[in-house]
Amino acid sequence: MAIVVYKNKDERVEVLDGENLKKIIRDNSWAIPFGCEDGICGTCLVRVVEGFENLSELSEKEKMTLPAMGLDDGIHRLACQCSVLQGEIVIENS
Ligand code: FES
Repeated sequence: MAIVVYKNKDERVEVLDGENLKKIIRDNSWAIPFGCEDGICGTCLVRVVEGFENLSELSEKEKMTLPAMGLDDGIHRLACQCSVLQGEIVIENS
């Protein structure tokens, strides 16, 4: 099991290892919007406050979209593109 904390609401949930972050956000009705759901629009941008290393590697689309947004900084991820691998992560709206 992994843990995801949504800092804006101070909510903490247990999830299966490998769960997609988009699914976690939707299942918990967290206020993070989605657009294309394909790593292109940047709408689902989140700031990873803790546990960046516990997320899946950057997708090829994130490697294009995040630098284009000036956010290839090791803090931001696109929620539609990543999964929680293990441990704990803390996210907040960007
Ligand atoms: S919803 Fe468009 S990049 Fe995630």
